[in-house]
Amino acid sequence: MHKSNSNLIVGGEPPISLSDIFKSHKGQFSKYGDGTKYHKYYTFGAYYSLKAIIIALKLERNDQVLLPSYLCPTIISPFKEAKVSYQFYKVKEGLCPDLDDIYSKITSNTKAILIIDYFGFPSKELVKPLISITNHKNIAIIQDNVQAWLDNEKFLYGDYCFNSMRKISPYEASVILSRKDMKFTCSPGKMNKFILHKRYAQFLRNYHLKYGWFRASSFLSHIEIANSLYHQKAIAALPKINRIMLDKLNFNQLGENRKIVYRMLLKSLNLKPIIMNSDINYIPLGFAIQVNNRDRIKRELSKKNVYCPIHWKLSEEINKREFEFSWNLQEKELTLPLNIKPNQVPTYLKVLKEVL
Ligand SMILES: Cc1ncc(COP(=O)(O)O)c(C=O)c1O
Repeated sequence: MHKSNSNLIVGGEPPISLSDIFKSHKGQFSKYGDGTKYHKYYTFGAYYSLKAIIIALKLERNDQVLLPSYLCPTIISPFKEAKVSYQFYKVKEGLCPDLDDIYSKITSNTKAILIIDYFGFPSKELVKPLISITNHKNIAIIQDNVQAWLDNEKFLYGDYCFNSMRKISPYEASVILSRKDMKFTCSPGKMNKFILHKRYAQFLRNYHLKYGWFRASSFLSHIEIANSLYHQKAIAALPKINRIMLDKLNFNQLGENRKIVYRMLLKSLNLKPIIMNSDINYIPLGFAIQVNNRDRIKRELSKKNVYCPIHWKLSEEINKREFEFSWNLQEKELTLPLNIKPNQVPTYLKVLKEVL
């Protein structure tokens, strides 16, 4: 089988190699949140962290949670499974939460509001006026940092904040930072089968990309199996091996590279990102844009080894008329990945200019 047609490979499931085991220990993952006043807890992923937060908040059937209308379906599941009622609020241009819509939906049953830091963009300033109201009314703010980098402590404001390491690294983990002591039980070993399939796929992908060995279908099928095993009833614990491997990654360096690549794309492409921020004081998850014919463009890019993340498929529960902005975005959103070395940017730009 032939080697991939170019040295440029951007995005897709992060490959891992046996040599990763011998990488030096940086410990940045374990230190995350240490400089804050938050209590720290670990689970296997964001889905499980949300389950833990629902338990900590003692949310019940008549309690209501406000969720953004532009969100990944995994966020809804833990609320649905715990039979907690929820209502959606509008998001506006630039993916800002529509505070007026939130205010109009707060009732005496509202116990929590979930805010997403989309593509890692800090929402702290955007929600300042809301926080004074929620503090007064004893409504908890759940800050979803799944798309944020590991250095975002300065942007935390939620009563509960959680992230997901599998969005920014090859290994799964979620850190919950909570203002209050939390009591919940994690089950170890629940994700063994998931990990087995995922790691196998990641190894195969590494050798496929490096040497052209194995068909793409051989690892894609294992990723599919792993994904089908992800949602379990009990709160899955963070395995020790994931923590060890995450501690080997140099997030500071990887993050700096992403910032550089983002700035180079911003300067060289005549494209307006969905979240416009000329002063990049955070590490963006990707270069998110809106395009017509998104699915065709995505297919064209994947033929040239640029693998854009799967866009969110909004739940049918989200009203199409009321949340027109969110539905429109769902049709057009395309995230250009940033996980390459800055010296590969000229080749990346060439591919992007050919396709976009
Ligand atoms: C913003 C956001 N929150 C939560 C999740 C769920 O994360 P996990 O896959 O770690 O459960 C996702 C998944 O894509 C997400 O994008």
